[in-house]
Amino acid sequence: MKIDHVAIAVNNVDEAAKEYQQALGIKEVEFETIETEGVRVAILHLKDSRIELMEPTREDSPIKKFLTSRGEGLHHIAFETDGIEGEVTRMKGCGVRFLGEIRPGSRGTKVTFIHPKSLHGVLAELCSHSK
Ligand code: CO
Repeated sequence: MKIDHVAIAVNNVDEAAKEYQQALGIKEVEFETIETEGVRVAILHLKDSRIELMEPTREDSPIKKFLTSRGEGLHHIAFETDGIEGEVTRMKGCGVRFLGEIRPGSRGTKVTFIHPKSLHGVLAELCSHSK
């Protein structure tokens, strides 16, 4: 497993992307809207992982709820695995709790989320990229 990305909830993804680019010295940024999750995302590429800045696109977005109750900040860490189905089965065998089933993410990925209670208060995504 490796860390695929770190996702941060922000109020304004354009402003946040500029500030992150400056702070980290990153030239390129990609933007993507994921309708199913109700977010617009700025993707900043690091050496072997990414930072994703997420702004809600609608009132019922889970990120909107997060920002309202907790403000801007770290939302989740994503771990990449080659075989998400097998990994979920293995983790469930260890008592790890999940939020929902494996579902399609952006760009042909498969994703699911691990309950923060299983990881000492950290929400984590498990993802597999299509081969
Ligand atoms: Co993510």
